[in-house]
Amino acid sequence: MSNEINRRNWIKTSAMMAGGLAFLGGTASQLAAAPIIKKLNQGEDVLTEEMFLRDAPIELKARLNANENPFGPSPAAKKALMESIDGSFRYPMKSIGDLAEKIAKYEGVSPYNNVMMAAGSTPLLMAAAMHYSEGGKEIITGDPSYDDLPTRAVKFGAKWVKVPLTADYKLDLDAMEAKVNSNTGLVYICNPNNPTATVVDSAKLKAFIERVSKKTTVFVDEAYINYLPDPDAVTMIGCVKAGQNVIVARTFSKLYGFAGLRCGYIITQPEIIGTLSKYADGFGLSAPTIAAAMAAYQEKDFLQDALKKTMASKAYLYSVLKKEGYEYIPSSANFVMFPLKMDRNKFSDEMYKRGVGIRTWKLNGKDYCRISIGRMDEMEAFADAFKQIS
Ligand SMILES: Cc1ncc(COP(=O)(O)O)c(C=O)c1O
Repeated sequence: MSNEINRRNWIKTSAMMAGGLAFLGGTASQLAAAPIIKKLNQGEDVLTEEMFLRDAPIELKARLNANENPFGPSPAAKKALMESIDGSFRYPMKSIGDLAEKIAKYEGVSPYNNVMMAAGSTPLLMAAAMHYSEGGKEIITGDPSYDDLPTRAVKFGAKWVKVPLTADYKLDLDAMEAKVNSNTGLVYICNPNNPTATVVDSAKLKAFIERVSKKTTVFVDEAYINYLPDPDAVTMIGCVKAGQNVIVARTFSKLYGFAGLRCGYIITQPEIIGTLSKYADGFGLSAPTIAAAMAAYQEKDFLQDALKKTMASKAYLYSVLKKEGYEYIPSSANFVMFPLKMDRNKFSDEMYKRGVGIRTWKLNGKDYCRISIGRMDEMEAFADAFKQIS
């Protein structure tokens, strides 16, 4: 009880310090979730997706707002987690290196010079945001795209240059390149792009990086690359191997189903690792997470199975949308964006009232919904609610 009171006091103080929004957690988050979601859905830049995730209500029938993978983690990862508990009084000194080695071996890079691990890719995105905003530099991104890095960069004095997507909702690489100038700090490429789930042609992206990385650093966020048929064929890690000024970010949070376990990494040049190490390091990774990641990494059968289940839920979602007379943006990831026929705040309120969590966006002046792919029962819960209000 006294813990609860202390916690409340802490939440209250933190909330006052943070303008009442950013650091709410636990019980208070559930009370506060509705206005926060509304604020986000109105497209204000105040809250990043990361903040949203911290504050979204947990007790939903269908949690389709966070691009998580409900089919993970794999049984092997869970077993490794359990087995690591006994030894977790020890600091994970060596094991973090073992994991970096395993990843480096697979990718054909050096574990010491090219791989930097962290508790999810977010700390690495944040490190890049801090460094590349120094001196009021410009950060170029697609619009809309994943906004955690540029939002943080703006807080560190960067100017955020937003480049609209193409007519088919893809990153407009030509327009992004045209914005590069001597004051550009970073170009952020999210591929597949969140929230549109579109991909850019990999040959075109490779050529883009070859040119642009001579002028500035290119950050390629490949959080959703495992949802593509052949990730190894389309990753930009080859650009790192070719010595280019590029950072490739990966996470275990998506197809591996590790969002709550927290494990991510970047593959980049040694000098960039040296620089970003000032802002982030791998010591945030817990021993159980490392053990689970060691067991799960490139576990082909599990990954294929999770992908198959995702595809089945996605096909069902497509059929529901079609039946209700809605169009959608064909998706290359575990979420789908589609244009709404009503005000997005009203849509969002009505869905949450029915226990279905989704996100909405304003895109080209129109209201859109982004729905994450969940288990079939979650997709059915979405379908039930959607039919009532669409
Ligand atoms: C494009 C993109 N990058 C990075 C992240 C953050 O992932 P992590 O859980 O590894 O911090 C997300 C989370 O949704 C994302 O969508």
